Amino acid sequence: MDDPKGSSSWLKSLNISDIFGWKGHGEYGALAAIVISILVPVLFSALFFGKKKGKIRGVPVEVGGEECFAVRNARKTELVEVPWKGAPTMAHLFEQSCNKYTRNQFLGTRKIIQKEFVTSSDGRKFEKLHLGDYEWETYGEVFARVSNFASGLLKLGHNGDSRVAIFSDTRAEWLIALQGCFRQNVTVVTIYASLGEDALIHSLNETEVSTLICDSKQSKKLDAIRSRLTSLQNVIYFEDDNEEDAFSGSSSGWTIASFSEVEKLGKESPVEPSLPSKNAIAVIMYTSGSTGLPKGVMITHGNIVATTAAVMTVIPNLGSKDVYLAYLPLAHVFEMAAESVMLAAGCAIGYGSPLTLTDTSNKVKKGTKGDATVLKPTLLTAVPAILDRIRDGVVKKVEQKGGLVKNLFHFAYKRRLGAVKGSWLGAWGLEKLMWDTIVFKQIRTALGGQLRFMLCGGAPLSGDSQHFINICMGAPIGQGYGLTETFAGAAFSEWDDYSVGRVGPPLPCCHIKLVSWEEGGYLTSDKPMPRGEIVVGGFSVTAGYFKNQEKTKEVFKVDEKGMRWFYTGDIGQFHPDGCLEIIDRKKDIVKLQHGEYISLGKIEAALSSCDHVDNIMVYADPFHNYCVALVVASHQSLEKWAQQAGIDYQDFPDLCNKPETVTEVLQSISKVAKSAKLEKTEIPAKIKLLPDPWTPESGLVTAALKIKREQLKAKFKDELQKLYA
Ligand SMILES: *[C@@H]1O[C@H](CO)[C@@H](O)[C@H](O)[C@H]1NC(C)=O
Ligand SMILES: *[C@@H]1O[C@H](CO)[C@@H](O)[C@H](O)[C@H]1NC(C)=O
Repeated sequence: MDDPKGSSSWLKSLNISDIFGWKGHGEYGALAAIVISILVPVLFSALFFGKKKGKIRGVPVEVGGEECFAVRNARKTELVEVPWKGAPTMAHLFEQSCNKYTRNQFLGTRKIIQKEFVTSSDGRKFEKLHLGDYEWETYGEVFARVSNFASGLLKLGHNGDSRVAIFSDTRAEWLIALQGCFRQNVTVVTIYASLGEDALIHSLNETEVSTLICDSKQSKKLDAIRSRLTSLQNVIYFEDDNEEDAFSGSSSGWTIASFSEVEKLGKESPVEPSLPSKNAIAVIMYTSGSTGLPKGVMITHGNIVATTAAVMTVIPNLGSKDVYLAYLPLAHVFEMAAESVMLAAGCAIGYGSPLTLTDTSNKVKKGTKGDATVLKPTLLTAVPAILDRIRDGVVKKVEQKGGLVKNLFHFAYKRRLGAVKGSWLGAWGLEKLMWDTIVFKQIRTALGGQLRFMLCGGAPLSGDSQHFINICMGAPIGQGYGLTETFAGAAFSEWDDYSVGRVGPPLPCCHIKLVSWEEGGYLTSDKPMPRGEIVVGGFSVTAGYFKNQEKTKEVFKVDEKGMRWFYTGDIGQFHPDGCLEIIDRKKDIVKLQHGEYISLGKIEAALSSCDHVDNIMVYADPFHNYCVALVVASHQSLEKWAQQAGIDYQDFPDLCNKPETVTEVLQSISKVAKSAKLEKTEIPAKIKLLPDPWTPESGLVTAALKIKREQLKAKFKDELQKLYA
């Protein structure tokens, strides 16, 4: 193992860093480490004062509209609208950034060296990739490609007044196509690649898209629905390294061209750019709502640059030295906002995918490297589900090692947790350095070893996972709160805030106000903290829903001062330091027969920490005075229990059906509920155990792995009825 930068030689002489290198010797070293770890903080703690306890991050502000409690970011008295003067739109910003960073690395992609299929023992086939190093293009080169694509798009026959849709996995050409459209003031429609057929047809039809840009693997899907795509005229497909994946859709009324053909067309006959204005609609983003067909959110150029400007102020020392690993869907607002920030700051963006992220990811060929180990990113975005998975992976590996490794890990973790939670001084002192070197460095190499900041959003992150990632990855996590309707920009926790469960103060591009919700019992006059529905106002608030005036009027309002507000439906409370905490969701609250309100989301959040529970949906029929739950059972935990309890069963579904299994899970749920201080009415009285996980492909959870209540209710209607029988 290399000596890390800055680690002192006495550490090295102890020769204990090998312990976490799984070599399993050096017990004396470990002992010494423990003794020293106790002495060091005592000796050095005085040097490391400076914990940012009690720092004020958000302050009250006067705003228009109804009675409320409103807060703004403490660092800025005026809302920020643009990252710098002269960049009112993403098209302007992009061109200026490319001029400024011409020779810097910008977009990086890994070539496929080899693709193969392996067959598992049960006969299923898995694709495995051997990927090469990152190949980079500079800001200058990418700008030329964007200009060419913009020209080629029109030359191909795309009418500049109609819309383009992008339906593809995240990749460099996705961003190039997006920026190309912006250069010609063409609105881009985005659709999650995981959305179903009906949602795809609905969004393409509703926005009368005439050109679709997609990856070549979509050709079959398109063929199947071609008769229902009435407005479509052109299809541009991204080429793959593999010939066999070439786009096949041929005989039809469509003009079909590859991405590079369009670039070539534009290079040969350039067209003058037609840059948009700040109120032009840049993107219509379809979001998988939890009910019905997806809604298209109209995002202006002004919204994108506002969120970009605001987030740039909260990532410490953001600049052209940073390397960002892009792998989340670009059709999701969170990733689009993050990449906008990176390009505005001149960072390098390396593309990857969730299935090739680390050396041990599913699609990575054994013995070859994952995206993170090759790229060594300094910045990374993640959704909580991914961080939870990383955490489970690390814990599992440590448990497998057992013995000294396990003990040392837990000891080190406890020490660090105590420090991070502020129970003693020295959060960043020498002891941290030591534990990092001995224990955590090994874990960090899984993500390249250079991470210095993580952005997390999309859903609430549990406090345990936040601490775990904080400590093991050694990088602070900025937790963002935002919605497609606010172009991701609403609140963002600051890097020096180690508290958990909160999403920070409002971003400097918007104000956040709480409005009392009498019916649900959340009031701005509540003590000790004001509570109410979260309403976001400012430059990141979007123009509303496409072709849906009614819904737009319901949740977007302009106040007498001209500020635009979005009513999120989330319930929050403001801490005294101006940080927001999300505590509930309006529509997840049910009034039971006897008049008590129960919050389904709150119960689910509490019970999901139960070992036997993989996923859970709580359901409450207002005509009864108790709630029930659908529980996706955890294979690992229940099989272990069955073994210990000596239960005989054929397969996992059979185990889930056994009354004694249901009783066991109910009991453990009840225990967790009590320790989380849930009321009696909040503890599910009956449950149904389900053996199969809920996946985005099944349509039962969103791409960010949030449960879709309506879909689950429909699918398990009979089971739910039986629970109330
Ligand atoms: C497409 O939209 C039009 C209205 O704009 C509607 O009349 C038609 O039924 C839709 N077609 C499909 C296939 O959804
Ligand atoms: C850009 O397109 C929008 C339609 O989205 C249009 O209203 C606007 O006038 C266009 N802007 C320019 C500068 O052409």
